[in-house]
Amino acid sequence: MKLKLLLTLAMVVTFATNALAAPIIIKFSHVVAQNTPKGQAADYFKKLAEERTKGRVKVEVYPNSQLYKDKEEMEALQLGAVQMLAPALSKFAPLGVKEFEVFDLPFLFDSYQELHKVTQGPVGAKLLKKLEPKGILGLAYWDNGFKVMSANKPLKAVADFRGQKMRIQSSKVLDSEMRSMGAIPQVMAFSEVYQALQTGVVNGTENPPSNLYTQKMHEVQKYVTLSDHGYLGYAVIVNKKFWQGLPADIRTALESAMKDATKFANDVAKKDNDEALAGVKKSGKSQLVTLTAQEKAAWKKAMDKAHKDNMGRIGADIVKEAYAATGYKP
Ligand code: LMR
Repeated sequence: MKLKLLLTLAMVVTFATNALAAPIIIKFSHVVAQNTPKGQAADYFKKLAEERTKGRVKVEVYPNSQLYKDKEEMEALQLGAVQMLAPALSKFAPLGVKEFEVFDLPFLFDSYQELHKVTQGPVGAKLLKKLEPKGILGLAYWDNGFKVMSANKPLKAVADFRGQKMRIQSSKVLDSEMRSMGAIPQVMAFSEVYQALQTGVVNGTENPPSNLYTQKMHEVQKYVTLSDHGYLGYAVIVNKKFWQGLPADIRTALESAMKDATKFANDVAKKDNDEALAGVKKSGKSQLVTLTAQEKAAWKKAMDKAHKDNMGRIGADIVKEAYAATGYKP
């Protein structure tokens, strides 16, 4: 009788200990391939987070829109169905934080150094703060790269864009950018772009080489113009209630993992994009097009309209602070 009681007690204790030790799950959903800067950084964050919390946290990374597409992932984060995302900075306006579209202003950044003056400076911090009333915390900025413009005709002169249907992310600044060139912008989820290009639903698109190459978009686009006309990068965001509800020691460990994953992301971004471009070139599937200084100046001049038209939308204060940080001259 006594033994039976002891055994039962032992079982209860084991059960309770196991229940206590059940790991905290962080679902991290994203839309790109694993071998992109964001994909690799997400996997690296998982590794560090699990190591540094000694398995008390388990990070489940879902790449390639496996779990959610662009729009759904934002909703899922707010509802708590996923805990962590790293959406492109161009995708925050539907959340009600239009100010992030400052990053979409064409030709605002000439280099990663100029970009970091914004992401790692006061403007970057101010923007992340704006997420809090939405139940979201911004933890970090992760770099990707400078965009190329692809189509089935060589896009060199501004006139080459006329009537071209171009896929864009859900950003009004990108909408203005395409319209300023005479193109017809079309918002579409990232997961649908390859097929839309293949079937001719759209004629072209813009993305950093890492995204173009890993989605094989270059196989269904005849020309890729090396324009560096804009930047695409990410903010890593978490559900605020979830994050603030974590035990303090766990949160500290995760913050240190995020710090190192951020450094990793920003260290690999340029190299990944350079390699992706080399891959596009080697594939022979699409031809790389370069712009002369005059052609580039003409793009910049035309696209300046996207700056003027969106000053009020983004907020003149933020735009001017970004100009001051990067030295952009309209
Ligand atoms: C896109 O939709 O083109 C990008 O935001 C995809 C990504 O996350 O890099």
